[in-house]
Amino acid sequence: MSKYNEERVLSVHHWTDTLFSFRTTRDPSFRFRNGEFTMIGIEVEGRPLLRAYSVVSANYEEELEFFSIKVPNGPLTSKLQHLKVGDPIMIGKKPTGTLVLDNLLPGKNLYLLGTGTGLAPFMSIIKDPETYERFEKVVLVHGCRHVQELAYGETITQTLPNHEFLGEVISSQLLYYPTVTREPFRNRGRITDLMLSGKLFEDIGLPNMSIENDRFMLCGSPEMIKDTRELLVTGGYEEGNHGEAGHFVIEKAFVEK
Ligand code: A2P
Repeated sequence: MSKYNEERVLSVHHWTDTLFSFRTTRDPSFRFRNGEFTMIGIEVEGRPLLRAYSVVSANYEEELEFFSIKVPNGPLTSKLQHLKVGDPIMIGKKPTGTLVLDNLLPGKNLYLLGTGTGLAPFMSIIKDPETYERFEKVVLVHGCRHVQELAYGETITQTLPNHEFLGEVISSQLLYYPTVTREPFRNRGRITDLMLSGKLFEDIGLPNMSIENDRFMLCGSPEMIKDTRELLVTGGYEEGNHGEAGHFVIEKAFVEK
């Protein structure tokens, strides 16, 4: 039996020259936990070419959505970026990943720290009603080089607060903090620096981070992960995984070289 479902592309959205997202059909048997990733890809010269992609959609949605960078000579993304409605796409049947609520110890505030396409798994998590049952406040921090790269900003600030079932909890519990490093914007600076200086907490009106109250999910480039993990470990926070829940969990955002 094949390890992949063959789905069809339903829509494609180009955010910038380097970022795009697309939606596909979803096999009814495909199940995942919010925050997980799966292998997706296409056939190139008769052979499957796949990479890990976090699912942007929540697990109760009928369609699947993915968020991708475009790398000019990337074996997969140089082709994926030309996807058209109706094109076939392979979706791995075995989603997995560590960015799931069960891997975190109970807490008061959940910080979702993502850079670039590392936002993807958090889009799924902020649409999960359980996220708001487990945490009082959910803080979505998205760090990018440029303002244009702050994809999904409108979904987060306009669409989700008006969501039929979740609008109310999202409006009262979700805080969105986009930050940019390489041009003027209302929030500036790297996520790590904003945490160390305390500016992030000041700006969102929450107390400085504490092991007692705060839990973190990280998704971004290897350097961002390394530095943020170091910051947390130094502060005494413990990393969680499937075996044992912790104060934080991490996942590298897929970056094709
Ligand atoms: P910067 O512009 O200062 O490098 P990238 O596109 O390279 O993945 O970066 C996405 C965002 O993550 C950028 O705002 C970038 O800031 C930031 N970033 C890069 N490296 C780190 C790091 N080690 N810790 C925190 N943020 C980082």
